[in-house]
Amino acid sequence: MRIAALANLHYSPQSYDRIREQMSRIRDDAELLVLAGDLTNFGRPQEMESLLTMLVRLRLPIVAVLGNHDYESGCQAELVRMMTDAGIKLLDGTAYERDGVGFAGTKGFPGGFGRGALTAFGEPEVKAFVQAAIDEALKLERAMSQLRTGKRVVVLHYAPIGDTIRGEAPEIYPYLGSSRLAEVIDRHGADVVFHGHAHHGSPDGKTTAGIPVHNVAMQILQSQEPPAVFRVFEV
Ligand SMILES: [Fe+2]
Repeated sequence: MRIAALANLHYSPQSYDRIREQMSRIRDDAELLVLAGDLTNFGRPQEMESLLTMLVRLRLPIVAVLGNHDYESGCQAELVRMMTDAGIKLLDGTAYERDGVGFAGTKGFPGGFGRGALTAFGEPEVKAFVQAAIDEALKLERAMSQLRTGKRVVVLHYAPIGDTIRGEAPEIYPYLGSSRLAEVIDRHGADVVFHGHAHHGSPDGKTTAGIPVHNVAMQILQSQEPPAVFRVFEV
């Protein structure tokens, strides 16, 4: 299966105008589109409505997760309902199988990487923050354990490893993802992992177990030569 992947669309009609032509060619290059979160700028239903009009015209199966921007207005449940009604497979600790390829997805959460990961110690506020990261890892665990396919694709918004956020300011690394997600991925095994969130990160990396991880932030793809708005992967 040829999968087109992109993240951080931050949709507005003006910004979409600049990429409309390239987006219309997705269908020639891929059989399925993965959207790795931050579909909207502020998580407003009006933004989603406008975006869905565009996405439906692509006439391509779409698998997506939400990003932090999609939570900004507190309307995430409504956004999910709108996307589901439009036929988009929204993954939130859930799995989906299509043509022998399994997709497991969840938004993920910040928290840091490896020995630098924040731990649940001290103030209740810190414990609540860490618990949110643990909960997202547990959701990914649940989603991955549902997959029965040979081919497995993981879709996240936050980064599961540090390699694909390299290029961002080191001071903000802990806010860009959580290695708790990578631990789950390595335990269950996958063919490829997609994420976004880090606009100035690096496109390619690997988990400790060697599973390829790709930061498909549109801002990275657009800064490459020639500029692209999506990447295509054969799974
Ligand atoms: Fe984000």
